[in-house]
Amino acid sequence: MHTHNIPVIAIDGPSASGKGTVAQLVANTLGFHYLDSGALYRLVALKTMQTHTDITDITKLAEIARNLAVVFENNKIFLEDNDATNAIRTEECGILASKLASYPPVREALTARQRAFCQIPGLVADGRDMGSVIFPNAPLKIFLTASAGVRAQRRYKQLNEKGINANIADLLRDIEKRDAQDSNRSVAPLQQGTDARLLDTTTLSITQAKETVLAWYTEICANK
Ligand code: DC
Repeated sequence: MHTHNIPVIAIDGPSASGKGTVAQLVANTLGFHYLDSGALYRLVALKTMQTHTDITDITKLAEIARNLAVVFENNKIFLEDNDATNAIRTEECGILASKLASYPPVREALTARQRAFCQIPGLVADGRDMGSVIFPNAPLKIFLTASAGVRAQRRYKQLNEKGINANIADLLRDIEKRDAQDSNRSVAPLQQGTDARLLDTTTLSITQAKETVLAWYTEICANK
């Protein structure tokens, strides 16, 4: 089966917007596969830190991205057989991921790996460039966001639940820094595409956000 026949719901948006949670819930409801593309960039960052690789050596960084031995299994992420699920969620890892993600060779090295997630019966893909670059033919493209303050609170809660210490003011500063870095880079910048629907979740619950995505998808399928 050609991958262009497989439905993709592309959910892009800024850091800590809740798009990962919403995307996973939508994927579970529809029985679709789920791609957390940010996790791939975070894994490249983790491996870069573990190997003390020079973060200006773009060739080496792209090599890390190309050869990453990753397994996504039952909500866990393994890097070379080691459980990296929590290790990739630190702010340090997120900030480095954002930096490495600005290098085109690193992005190119991850492209085929991301497209390989597109399998029947369908895929929900979350990231920054899912609709614009990785799955440009996706029938439903969403730009999911929330105010920076609400995102900092959500990230705080998420980290707390994982037993990771955090401070709201620091998180807000990191989120604003990362927004600026992800939005201002020259390749695949974070922005709402003209063909993407805006889903502002500042005042929505996770369930309301999920229901909105499902309603949009139902509407698209009905109009096909
Ligand atoms: O979604 P996240 O916070 O886990 O992503 C971590 C970083 O990876 C983010 O700051 C930018 C980068 N990223 C990207 O450039 N493109 C994607 N499709 C996903 C993430």
